[in-house]
Amino acid sequence: VITMDKQNRKAIIAGNWKMNKTATEAKALISELIPAVKDAGCEVVICVPFTDLVTAVEMTKGTNIHVGAENVHFEKSGAFTGEISADMLTDLGVEYVVIGHSERRQYFAETNETVNKRTKAALAGGLKPIICVGEKLSEKQMGITEEIVCLQTKAALHGVSRTQLDEVVIAYEPIWAIGTGMTATPEDANQTIRAIRNAIRDVYGDVAQNIRILYGGSMNDKNARDLMAQSDIDGGLIGGASLVAEKFEKIVNYNR
Ligand code: PGA
Repeated sequence: VITMDKQNRKAIIAGNWKMNKTATEAKALISELIPAVKDAGCEVVICVPFTDLVTAVEMTKGTNIHVGAENVHFEKSGAFTGEISADMLTDLGVEYVVIGHSERRQYFAETNETVNKRTKAALAGGLKPIICVGEKLSEKQMGITEEIVCLQTKAALHGVSRTQLDEVVIAYEPIWAIGTGMTATPEDANQTIRAIRNAIRDVYGDVAQNIRILYGGSMNDKNARDLMAQSDIDGGLIGGASLVAEKFEKIVNYNR
């Protein structure tokens, strides 16, 4: 059932390139993407590695493609060798940033606390965070999915103001579904996303209706339409399928 609330939230299809594509390869893919997605009814975002950002921002100027980074540090500047600040990203023309992806939580010691710090730094710096939450297979099997994702969401948003909340995007990505070809069923994904929206409502009230919550995890050109038909799924965060122009094009045009 598509509700009025859903119609008020502009859908986002965001590519998450992860650690893929050199600047040379990015140039080739973006040249294919620009004409392929130009008539999209949704907002189109590509989140790309730091080394591809300049290329992506330059090439997408004047197009309907928005550019995001894959991470941001929480300090403004200083002795943090190897890190990238929000100002460095906004100065390039970057608009979005992925925060707290499960791969960062799993391999790079990202915690609910660092996700919260990065979220606040991103918002203070004028970036729109795409905050990732999701349960492990063992947590799903224990029946604690909703508790886990609501905890992650509330922790990520701690100290974020009601005004700042408008800029926030959440991506629900069950870890067992990422890169595995095992997508959550549209109904299950929708139910968990509703729980996330209710958790936001607990803290912020009815503005929770305006927040865009995406699904991610083996979303592709075959299953996008069914996922997007759900009442609370406002878009997708797409890994593997965002690296192939023809697949990303079909996801972006899920309505046709
Ligand atoms: P996938 O990745 O589409 O390759 O499963 C999604 C993600 O990790 O954002």
